[in-house]
Amino acid sequence: MSTTPRLPRRLAAPAPGWTVEADVVVVGSGIAGLTCALRLRQRVDRVLLVTKTVLSAGSTQWAQGGIAAALDPEDTPEEHLEDTLVAGVGLCDVEAVRTLVTEGPDRVRELVALGAEFDREPGGDIKLTREGGHHRDRIAHAGGDATGAEISRALIAALRAVVDDPGIEVVEHALVVDLLTAADGAVCGATLHVIGEGQIDGVGAARARAVVLATGGLGQIYTSTTNPPVATGDGMAAALRAGARVTDLEFVQFHPTVLFLGEGSTGQQPLISEAVRGEGAFLVDDRGERFMVGRHELADLAPRDVVARGILAVMGERGLDHVWLDARHLGAAFLEKRFPSIVARCRELGFDPATELLPVAPAQHYASGGVETDLRGRTSVEGLYACGEVSCTGVHGANRLASNSLLEGLVFAHRIADDVADRLAAGELPTRGPVDAEVDGETAVLLDSSHRIGLQRTMTRGCGPLRSADSTVRAQLELEALADLPTGAAEPGPRTWETTNLLHLGQALATLAHRREETRGGHVRTDHPERDDEHWLLHQGLVRTPSGWLEVLDRPVSEPMGGTQ
Ligand code: SIN
Repeated sequence: MSTTPRLPRRLAAPAPGWTVEADVVVVGSGIAGLTCALRLRQRVDRVLLVTKTVLSAGSTQWAQGGIAAALDPEDTPEEHLEDTLVAGVGLCDVEAVRTLVTEGPDRVRELVALGAEFDREPGGDIKLTREGGHHRDRIAHAGGDATGAEISRALIAALRAVVDDPGIEVVEHALVVDLLTAADGAVCGATLHVIGEGQIDGVGAARARAVVLATGGLGQIYTSTTNPPVATGDGMAAALRAGARVTDLEFVQFHPTVLFLGEGSTGQQPLISEAVRGEGAFLVDDRGERFMVGRHELADLAPRDVVARGILAVMGERGLDHVWLDARHLGAAFLEKRFPSIVARCRELGFDPATELLPVAPAQHYASGGVETDLRGRTSVEGLYACGEVSCTGVHGANRLASNSLLEGLVFAHRIADDVADRLAAGELPTRGPVDAEVDGETAVLLDSSHRIGLQRTMTRGCGPLRSADSTVRAQLELEALADLPTGAAEPGPRTWETTNLLHLGQALATLAHRREETRGGHVRTDHPERDDEHWLLHQGLVRTPSGWLEVLDRPVSEPMGGTQ
């Protein structure tokens, strides 16, 4: 297949029945959205934070391992940079990584000052552990394996402390449907579907001088993922439809050790943190042999693409649908103290890590690509910013280093808040009115949510950790068939909007996955099993043109990531 897909400008939705105005709308309430909103509030008069369900429901809450930062006096940002670049397999933006690792330690200390309680050494220092791809202990964690939950708790508590402040408004149960654009193409707000009471209920418009997307990832595009049900790529799809450049979408990270609950198990699956291997657990095959030893100098703690690939190779060679993680030697007392949530969840599901091998297999975990931004979080569309997993800052390259995602959300949220506040103070980012929906391009035929499982199977078969020209073409054709289903098949509503977002992102992802004829990062191209720097040391971006066709933009890795604002 040589053509790219054609996407509509917007999802079919009722006309907005209400309007609210703010200086900035922040969409999403993980570490990125909460940090950005709290910091903006210090300098901007009217901040509106909207979130799809409740404040704590996003991916941050589920982060087990921790947050990576060079906090140990023996460690340095330079070493953190080196490990990040190796994991990113040649496609990181070095300046973005430098920003991440140099600003990271201070941002983590600020998080501590805000109230996040990390696990401590007896002497009081933050306890640091190691995960795959790190050559030093630099992962701060909380509640053993509940780091994201603790960070989320601390940020939500800080938000609740200021919620009476008229400068910040929070709306929960607000799904972003599309972005509003002005006549010059700048983003000037978003349409939202709110399940609320009183005036703000149903579809409405939130108008603003800037919109910050912090909507997380797209894990629900695959049959099995570690992402929560809300991760349906809503912000990323809306940005793509509004003309923002989306980059490196083919680089999906598959976490090596996700508890295997059987072939038919779909949706969010239990993650067994890499930190379990960091503490000494190891992988074995059906003969009990440690297959990561000899494959990489870091063995079971190699970067996660290497480990996932090792697992897939063994599964292929030995006809298995999973391998096993052996943590028994760590002992019940240690496991229960260090990994209370993981142990409890495993036991709930009938597996005891202290006495049994755990069945594990790779599952979707993280979108390394997303809406492309520069170092200030600006996208290619004026007025639109992106932060956290929805974004592509270039810090992850082809594969994210463990525990760099919370850090990315934190560091770039600060930068975005500062940039937006500076620009508003300087009179930039004027108030703009949206163009009428009728004249602003085509409206999508919606995909009924009954097609979601079929779509997920298509993506898993076609664009999973093992892919080829054949599998990606098949995926493109199957997705095209879904996009061409007869008009009027589905009623507007959250489930159909989400499913249509997954379709649009699937079409974009499959296009880039098909084009990249090499093996790099989180996946293997079985028909091009080697990394090919001669032809593929580049980022693939996609932009929706005014005619609706997606245009592919290749950019050498030597050019910085960046918006064109
Ligand atoms: C894990 O705990 O293994 C996941 C951490 C991450 O994705 O960075």
